[in-house]
Amino acid sequence: MHVSRERHSDRAASPSLTPPPVIGEPDRDRRFEARVTRDEKVEPNEWMPDAYRKTLIRQISQHAHSEIVGMQPEGNWLTRAPTLRRKAALLAKIQDEAGHGLYLYAAAETLGVSREEMQDQLLAGAAKYSSIFNYPTLSWADIGAIGWLVDGAAIMNQIPLCRCSFGPYARAMIRICKEESFHQRQGFEIMLTLCRGTPAQKAMAQDALDRWWWPVLMMFGPPDAASPHSDRSMRWKIKRLSNDALRQQFVDATVPQARFLGLTIPDPQLAFDEASGQWQIGAIDWSEFRAVLAGNGPCNRERLRRAREAHAAGAWVREAALAHAEKRRARAAAPPS
Ligand SMILES: [Fe+2]
Ligand SMILES: [Fe+2]
Repeated sequence: MHVSRERHSDRAASPSLTPPPVIGEPDRDRRFEARVTRDEKVEPNEWMPDAYRKTLIRQISQHAHSEIVGMQPEGNWLTRAPTLRRKAALLAKIQDEAGHGLYLYAAAETLGVSREEMQDQLLAGAAKYSSIFNYPTLSWADIGAIGWLVDGAAIMNQIPLCRCSFGPYARAMIRICKEESFHQRQGFEIMLTLCRGTPAQKAMAQDALDRWWWPVLMMFGPPDAASPHSDRSMRWKIKRLSNDALRQQFVDATVPQARFLGLTIPDPQLAFDEASGQWQIGAIDWSEFRAVLAGNGPCNRERLRRAREAHAAGAWVREAALAHAEKRRARAAAPPS
């Protein structure tokens, strides 16, 4: 009875409408996990577990927001850059960050979230952006410290993401990492110039390091023991190295650079461990990190207010672009005269 009904239905008559064989969910999950284990890339039109999709949307959109909000602390110094060369480099770096935000929003959109939705979340203060962008830029040396340390930490975080299992994110990261390396070098060069300058300039560089060091270490996220979703993200190859492993890599790369600059890392407990060949750091004050993530960072409200103002100020550009696109569409559709 069942067979004959199927045979006579419209569906069965047309091969193109024949539904694909139903794969049991556990089987689908297993196949997905196996593909990821084989290091195959997952593309947007392919089946993926809901939790994988949601984790990526959260991670990529937060990353995009950080790129966008991160333009503000540096934009603050564009009109006060000490030379034309510094200004041109800083301008190029900030434009790169805008580009990073755009690639990342585009990568997140392939997972089924709209750009408008992400934008609204950011402007409503509901979305998270990296806690590092809650801190003020008090002197020109902060621009050096941000490039050297914040972009340096971004590279550490992002190089493993070039091998992320989700194709669009991994591909966006390859280009982003190349640009981050220029950002890091421009920051280090600012620090080097200040450290070879007058005692007042060197003191300015030290003060910037003192203020940025601990927030930068927090940028790698909570310790592994307190990072609940880390294991799953590692299994899915969304994340390749743990927060603590990345933080350690950063410390080991940065301490010798600080010494080369003649600066002191503001951590009296910092010590080289001969056995592991690694630098051991003192305890991180995670209460500051939690306060910043809860929206109580020193500049959180100001940065959100400026993001909203910039969005409102750009409304006429969006309207003009839409009107222009509409005009072109109408012209293309009109019969030739
Ligand atoms: Fe960036
Ligand atoms: Fe950058």
